[in-house]
Amino acid sequence: MVEHDEMMMREADHIIDMGPLASHLGGEVVAEGNYDDIISSPKSLTGKYLYGELKIEPPKMARKWNRSIIIEGARQNNLKNITVEFPMNLLCVVSGVSGSGKTTLVKQILVPALRKLKGEFGDKVGYHKQISGDVESIGLIELVDQNPIGKSSRSNPVTYIKAYDEIRDLFAKQPLSKMRGFQPKHFSFNVDGGRCDTCKGEGEQVVEMQFLADVHLTCEACGGKRFKEEVLEVKYKDKSIYDVLEMSVDEAIDFFAAEKNLAGAIQPLSDVGLGYIKLGQSSGTLSGGEAQRVKLASFLGKSRVSNKILFVFDEPTTGLHFHDIKKLLASINALIEQGHSIIVIEHNMDVIRSADWIIDLGPEAGDSGGNLVFAGKPSDLKKAKSSYTALYL
Ligand SMILES: Nc1ncnc2c1ncn2[C@@H]1O[C@H](COP(=O)(O)OP(=O)(O)OP(=O)(O)O)[C@@H](O)[C@H]1O
Ligand SMILES: [Mg+2]
Ligand SMILES: [Zn+2]
Repeated sequence: MVEHDEMMMREADHIIDMGPLASHLGGEVVAEGNYDDIISSPKSLTGKYLYGELKIEPPKMARKWNRSIIIEGARQNNLKNITVEFPMNLLCVVSGVSGSGKTTLVKQILVPALRKLKGEFGDKVGYHKQISGDVESIGLIELVDQNPIGKSSRSNPVTYIKAYDEIRDLFAKQPLSKMRGFQPKHFSFNVDGGRCDTCKGEGEQVVEMQFLADVHLTCEACGGKRFKEEVLEVKYKDKSIYDVLEMSVDEAIDFFAAEKNLAGAIQPLSDVGLGYIKLGQSSGTLSGGEAQRVKLASFLGKSRVSNKILFVFDEPTTGLHFHDIKKLLASINALIEQGHSIIVIEHNMDVIRSADWIIDLGPEAGDSGGNLVFAGKPSDLKKAKSSYTALYL
């Protein structure tokens, strides 16, 4: 079993812990053995979280709120004609056992109903009587999932967060670019001009094999460097555009320190804990949790956006280690500080504990679920006698 869940690890007969960190900072077996061996390993980050030496600290105080959106008379699937108030400008977690009605309430009713009010075309709206409240306080609704970002294999984290435009401009400003008449577009791998003509800027060629997985071969023309020789000769601080794409996020932030706008545009990737990924790493190779945080980073960078966004996540911690959940929560809190609102459907206890407001559905699954069991601050959840979430918390 490939798993991050604490209870699963407690039950395991044998654990193989990989790391110590992510990407090129990982790839080793850090600790191995039973649960006790893992928690006594000085090198294992997993062990430190399991032992409690490192932990995800819940906030000392839940945020207060005065704005909300109310769904009245929700009856889709197993929902029992319930009325639910979703507070805005904080972290609201929707909890409840699997099959209790969380996804139905949030993704089949709340999100499509809000989108319809905003005049967006979208999915069919699930059965409910009415949506009311401070609908005007929300400018945009964003569903953040773990699906891969970008369709093109040329898309990568810096293009996704729009920091690449600044990098292209910087290279086009170098003296050699001026002499050769290079414009920002010559440093793009999406259009002809500067990119390698043979591989169209991919750096590799894909050979389709009839019954086997495709074979990826480094492009012979550019040697995997994605650009034409004359473009690669343009240097900024002795580095070519290819060298820059090979840098990690944290390296790049240092390297471009003199270019405030550019370093600032890359910074959000580091803030969400992705300082180790390469600027030019193809988006398709990012893990689900990494892709999700790149999406969050793209919003963190738009702090001056006046539109207030409601972010909706359905189980964002799936596949995340304790250490990543901590980073995810930090990014979520940064978005709230910028005036946005977050609704998270989640089973993870650390996230539930970190909520400002909990909406617990159930008490059971299917027909025995679909009721509003509890709505309130985490500290009051223990009063909810029929809530399984309360029992585990
Ligand atoms: N299209 C559908 N038609 C009929 N029943 C459905 C449909 N979609 C969901 N259900 C049922 O409605 C109930 C609530 O489902 P829902 O997906 O909202 O649960 P959930 O709380 O999100 O669970 P999980 O934690 O497993 O994601 C379940 O019993 C499910 O089987
Ligand atoms: Mg669900
Ligand atoms: Zn090439």
